Amino acid sequence: MRKFLPAVLMFLVSFTPAFGKEKKCTTDLKRPVPQEARDYAKLINANDSDIPCLSCHFAGNIIDGKEVKDIGVLTHPTGKKLKCITCHDVNSKNRYFLKKEDPELCLDCHKDKAVVFKGSHGKLGRKCSGCHSVHNAQGGYLSKVVYGEISPMEPPVDGFCLACHDPEGMAEHKVLQSIYNEHPLGVKNPTTRLPGKRISCVTCHDPHTYKGELLRIPVKKNSELCLACHSDKNLKGSPHNLSNDKGACLACHTPHNPEYKVLWSKKPGKGKTINEKMCSSCHNTAACSKKLQTTVDSKLPLINQMTGHPAKNGESGIVDCVTCHDPHNGK
Ligand code: HEC
Ligand code: HEC
Ligand code: HEC
Ligand code: HEC
Ligand code: HEC
Ligand code: HEC
Ligand code: HEC
Ligand code: HEC
Ligand code: HEC
Ligand code: HEC
Repeated sequence: MRKFLPAVLMFLVSFTPAFGKEKKCTTDLKRPVPQEARDYAKLINANDSDIPCLSCHFAGNIIDGKEVKDIGVLTHPTGKKLKCITCHDVNSKNRYFLKKEDPELCLDCHKDKAVVFKGSHGKLGRKCSGCHSVHNAQGGYLSKVVYGEISPMEPPVDGFCLACHDPEGMAEHKVLQSIYNEHPLGVKNPTTRLPGKRISCVTCHDPHTYKGELLRIPVKKNSELCLACHSDKNLKGSPHNLSNDKGACLACHTPHNPEYKVLWSKKPGKGKTINEKMCSSCHNTAACSKKLQTTVDSKLPLINQMTGHPAKNGESGIVDCVTCHDPHNGK
């Protein structure tokens, strides 16, 4: 793309109006438009009224011996109502000839995003450009940052978040710190209460909000967030409906940085089997651990010792605590 094209240069040199030392741009609509500019306009879905600007601002264009800045391929959308000159005014004294500075410029149209500055993400500074690049963005949603290794199965927005929240990221609060799996991502989202066909970071979180852990539905107290998808796990009436200031489910599970399999939030206790280790984080399992040797009614599930879940179709499993007990559902 950034190829040097002598023919274009000659073309431009002969037609570009001489612009003064301080004024670099022109709004002259009658200037001839090189084919490169038209191709570029098509590539970025620009509007016809943007073509005068793009007639100089395309990749590889050289004026006065200097390469003119282009705006990349991932760039703020323009259209009928939104043009280059909606945000820029080549007579403006502001930097980049902007009509207004970030964030006031952005908030003219994206008013609902202003709350971002009230929450933890406000720590990035009072600018949308903490996360977004209007032009020359690195990834989807005009992201300024991207995460190197992300599975193609995962929604691309996860890479946006992980660029800052993975263990090497710049944010204080990090995820993916454990050797055990985190809450599944990229799998089918079973609810319409939370966005996304597949589960991603923004299914549970809204990066532009300010409440708690930036969650779309609160998790504190009754774990309403979790129940939006796991309605069959309601603990109401169960002795396991433990009061926990992080939410009932988080007494045993955590979506991030788990201590053990099955998103376990506590240090596993002693025991020979997966469930015994989990239950003994709280219970003295001596009373029941003998029962692990007992064979049971074949209708009750055997527990797969790789996953900690009941063994499915042909997987091997053994008698474990949840063979007989369901830690959820009190009745
Ligand atoms: C005749 C060629 C030409 C046209 C047409 C043109 N520009 Fe420029 N523009 C330049 C040059 C040359 C520069 C300075 C070189 C550079 O740093 O990219 C520049 C710089 C800029 C800058 C960066 C200023 C800075 O401080 O770094 C912006 C923003 C810009 N132009 C926007 C526009 C917009 C919007 C239009 C359409 C209204 C436009 N330009 C039309 C040639 C042009
Ligand atoms: C939604 C508002 C918006 C629109 C629309 C917009 N720009 Fe910009 N532009 C900005 C902002 C904000 C910056 C400053 C970027 C920064 O802070 O890095 C900028 C910077 C630039 C720069 C300097 C880039 C650099 O790397 O230094 C150029 C050139 C430019 N714009 C050209 C254009 C052209 C051409 C169009 C139309 C196709 C356009 N802009 C449309 C907001 C906009
Ligand atoms: C004049 C109104 C206007 C201004 C000013 C404006 N935007 Fe937008 N923005 C829009 C519209 C319209 C869309 C397209 C919405 C759509 O396609 O659903 C959009 C889309 C976006 C998107 C989503 C892009 C994507 O690929 O999904 C981001 C991010 C964004 N704007 C950030 C900004 C930032 C940051 C600024 C300030 C530098 C800004 N906008 C200024 C109107 C504006
Ligand atoms: C902490 C990083 C972060 C900051 C700061 C941030 N955003 Fe975003 N933004 C994101 C992420 C991640 C997405 C994509 C996920 C989503 O849709 O929420 C996004 C998506 C968007 C979208 C497109 C989707 C939608 O909800 O319409 C717009 C528009 C947008 N941001 C505007 C802004 C504006 C305006 C600001 C400044 C007031 C801002 N953002 C500040 C991270 C950020
Ligand atoms: C540009 C870097 C950046 C990006 C991108 C980003 N964050 Fe953040 N995030 C931060 C910083 C910095 C903080 C404040 C310091 C901290 O708490 O780690 C923060 C705080 C948070 C917190 C609050 C932690 C707490 O308990 O206070 C959550 C939750 C969070 N981010 C989630 C996300 C999600 C989800 C995304 C993507 C949708 C995202 N972040 C994108 C930098 C980023
Ligand atoms: C299934 C819902 C869900 C998904 C998906 C999810 N989170 Fe979270 N996240 C939470 C909950 C609930 C908390 C609060 C946990 C707590 O209080 O211990 C949280 C907390 C956080 C925190 C603060 C961490 C801390 O130690 O307090 C960050 C940062 C964060 N999430 C980032 C992300 C990122 C990045 C992604 C995507 C890779 C993501 N989250 C996906 C539910 C989710
Ligand atoms: C948007 C829907 C959604 C939300 C919200 C959600 N989950 Fe999940 N969760 C799922 C899906 C779907 C799976 C199963 C993925 C699969 O089939 O492998 C899952 C799997 C799990 C697993 C099994 C993971 C493993 O490693 O075996 C646990 C435990 C879990 N979720 C706990 C929680 C907790 C606790 C919360 C609240 C913080 C929560 N979930 C919020 C959809 C959700
Ligand atoms: C007292 C501890 C405890 C509490 C509290 C708890 N769980 Fe569990 N959970 C477990 C154990 C142990 C397993 C592993 C056994 C299994 O797979 O059936 C498990 C497994 C799961 C699974 C994966 C198995 C499946 O059936 O899909 C999900 C999802 C889950 N829990 C969600 C939740 C949700 C949501 C809450 C809060 C409403 C919650 N749990 C509260 C102990 C607990
Ligand atoms: C977070 C701590 C915690 C974990 C982990 C935990 N429990 Fe409990 N469990 C409790 C508390 C507290 C009670 C109610 C007080 C009591 O009866 O000891 C309880 C009650 C019970 C009861 C009912 C006792 C009665 O008298 O009705 C059974 C059965 C039980 N747990 C089994 C399990 C099994 C099996 C596991 C592992 C899958 C497990 N628990 C994991 C804390 C926990
Ligand atoms: C073969 C089925 C079976 C297995 C396996 C089993 N239990 Fe039980 N458990 C029971 C039955 C039946 C009771 C109630 C009768 C009793 O007190 O013996 C019970 C009672 C309990 C109680 C409450 C009674 C008390 O001691 O106060 C706890 C806690 C408990 N089990 C935990 C566990 C743990 C932890 C494991 C795994 C190490 C486990 N159970 C494995 C069948 C089982």
